[in-house]
Amino acid sequence: MRMIHAATATNIKRGPGATMRLLGIDIGGTGIKGAPVDLVQGCLDAPRFRLATPQPATPQAVLDTIALVVEHFAWTGPIGCTFPGVVRNGVVKTADHLDPAWVGTDAEKLLTEHFGVPATVVNDADAAALAESRYGAARGQTGMVLVVTLGTGIGTGLVYRGNLIPNSEFGHIEIRGRDAELRASNTARETRKMTWKKWGRHVARYLQALEHLLNPDQIVLGGGIVKSADHFKDQLKTSTPVVFAALGNEAGIVGAALMAATRTDSQGEEPAADTASSPRPPAGDPPPVRTAPATPSPSKPGAAAGSTVRKSSSSVRDPAHGTKARPHR
Ligand code: BGC
Repeated sequence: MRMIHAATATNIKRGPGATMRLLGIDIGGTGIKGAPVDLVQGCLDAPRFRLATPQPATPQAVLDTIALVVEHFAWTGPIGCTFPGVVRNGVVKTADHLDPAWVGTDAEKLLTEHFGVPATVVNDADAAALAESRYGAARGQTGMVLVVTLGTGIGTGLVYRGNLIPNSEFGHIEIRGRDAELRASNTARETRKMTWKKWGRHVARYLQALEHLLNPDQIVLGGGIVKSADHFKDQLKTSTPVVFAALGNEAGIVGAALMAATRTDSQGEEPAADTASSPRPPAGDPPPVRTAPATPSPSKPGAAAGSTVRKSSSSVRDPAHGTKARPHR
């Protein structure tokens, strides 16, 4: 499996005054947002521009919306873009939150041909995970980090020693007979009008199930809910340290740009077979070198960004939850 290293965007110029900017775009089920990203600092380089996701969210309609974001910034360089579903080698495999016409679409080809610039398309949670690992709440973490984004759906990104293991879909594990996303996503909270406390308990049960399956060293919670962390963080009784995303809801934009930069770096290599659509590390897959600290300075970090929620001593596992992996869709 091809790994993506969080610190391999070697075309990032370093030193005084150095900067490297790429346009990051985050396609979500409800909004499409983008901004130029400063990849040295790991933050937005201009206020983000957000538009509602068109309905139906067909490839053409979404492309038209992305074009408005590109025009807004008068952008002519490479683009990194996230997608709220599985993306392998640029091709969309699942699109639960957008129009089903996306499935089978070569999203990278679509964007590259439309804008005439190199475009990279990756899963949204993978992008957020890599950004948090490189610049955010998981920076310096030497073990396995599980990033969980709670939004329209639940996205998961796994990073081990700085390397991303792409396209994990643990938002769809089954808990007590139902897809976890149906109880623990932010959309579930809103549509089922759950109190923060009740929803927090669903999230806790979900995180406990993930701990049981994956045994991560750290869990990073991201997505739009980061700004509401105070409402539910007390419910999160896990044995793994849980922190909130330092880049808040902008981790996807930053991660998209980072992955595009890494791709630009490694152009010319032959793609490995059967791998995710993701930038490749330079030949030799370098060890997890942590380069000069890039101060995490998101333009709008969440209120509880980067703060540890809990390091409880006892694991709260309930085998009666009947947790199991959902068959692959
Ligand atoms: C999708 C994931 C995605 C997540 C967040 C889930 O429903 O299956 O691929 O990362 O939503 O958008």
